[in-house]
Amino acid sequence: MTTLGTPLSPHATKVMLLGSGELGKEVLIALQRLGVETIAVDRYDNAPGQQVAHHARTITMSDPAQLKALIEAERPHLVVPEIEAIATPMLEELEAAGSVRVIPTARAARLTMDREGIRVLAAETLGLPTSPYKFCNSLEELQAAIDAGIGYPCIVKPVMSSSGKGQSKIDGPADVAKAWDYAMAGGRVSHGRVIVEGFIDFDYEITQLTVRSVGADGQIVTSFCDPIGHVQVSGDYVESWQPHPMHPAALEKSRQIAKAVTDNLGGQGLFGVELFVKGENVWFSEVSPRPHDTGLVTLCTQHQSEFELHARAILGLPVDTSLRNPGASAVIYGGVEAQGIVFDGVDEALRVPGTDLRLFGKPESFAKRRMGVALARAEDVDTARRNAKLAAGKVTPRQA
Ligand SMILES: Nc1ncnc2c1ncn2[C@@H]1O[C@H](COP(=O)(O)OP(=O)(O)OP(=O)(O)O)[C@@H](O)[C@H]1O
Ligand SMILES: [Mg+2]
Repeated sequence: MTTLGTPLSPHATKVMLLGSGELGKEVLIALQRLGVETIAVDRYDNAPGQQVAHHARTITMSDPAQLKALIEAERPHLVVPEIEAIATPMLEELEAAGSVRVIPTARAARLTMDREGIRVLAAETLGLPTSPYKFCNSLEELQAAIDAGIGYPCIVKPVMSSSGKGQSKIDGPADVAKAWDYAMAGGRVSHGRVIVEGFIDFDYEITQLTVRSVGADGQIVTSFCDPIGHVQVSGDYVESWQPHPMHPAALEKSRQIAKAVTDNLGGQGLFGVELFVKGENVWFSEVSPRPHDTGLVTLCTQHQSEFELHARAILGLPVDTSLRNPGASAVIYGGVEAQGIVFDGVDEALRVPGTDLRLFGKPESFAKRRMGVALARAEDVDTARRNAKLAAGKVTPRQA
């Protein structure tokens, strides 16, 4: 039985989000609706999620001492990582000591913190199909890995990075040194390690949202959302839609892979499993043990968005992953480098039929920073994609 408390009372159910960006903000709103007391943590003040939580805290989450001190001071029932760059060994320590429950598990947060833990687990421990890959610590090792079998074209990524940062494609020997330098400049922590992956010439890629929740008999049950198709530009998502039509055999394989990975990571919550598909072949790419950016589309397509599903699953509540209608999302980038920007054309955007908007409220804009998203529901995915892009294009961020 799940019992929830009253926020700001001695019997509150307290949840701490580590990372409070646009995805965390929606999880926090979902938790707020269930009367959960929320603590939004980020590395800077006034992060999107901090604007809708009961409490806002600003710390360096990759610093184990700061993380421990905050968790011990706040004593949340659940700690919910929203980003990868967290001192996850400290979370494992606190979880092992019984001080806190980490979502989905502290081990899952550690394994998915960089590309190495999760790739080795998926390919070597679980034997799932992935691109051929090798980890390299120098330009010489990178060249040797390519020559020894990875071949051209291939993709180089810093071991620790997200949203395509530091990632580039190598088409031939002339690109290798440039790709190495780019990875060194773009990694989150410059410890000089990269993964080089053989390029998969896929037909399309999907996110398979997968939920581990508690069933009526108290056992963990796994449920799947309809597949989400998406377009990535320079390793960053710009457009997504749901449902993405799939060959039944490819869908079946996708769900087997998603089940194998999420069973191993364990715990409760929603996962975003990224897969490449060509014909009936499916390759595992990576997994987020939390809501996925391409899943923003579920705000307009499902009875329960991926954020509501996550909130419910972590609290031990039942979930409904069913689709309500087709839909699409299109990203709104900042376009300008400025603080406290304004958005023109919001009314024009919302005049496009079936659309909605999320403006994240980030205090500072960068040219390539995701500042908002347009959502569109429609009879079919093609119309939804067209309308989402149309609406996104009508919103113009500018310096105030
Ligand atoms: N081996 C590959 N073959 C072909 N395309 C690839 C390969 N690896 C990555 N890509 C393309 O680059 C995109 C981003 O790669 P990946 O998901 O590994 O990076 P990321 O920085 O973790 O991105 P994000 O944080 O946005 O998920 C993929 O969604 C895919 O479109
Ligand atoms: Mg990815």
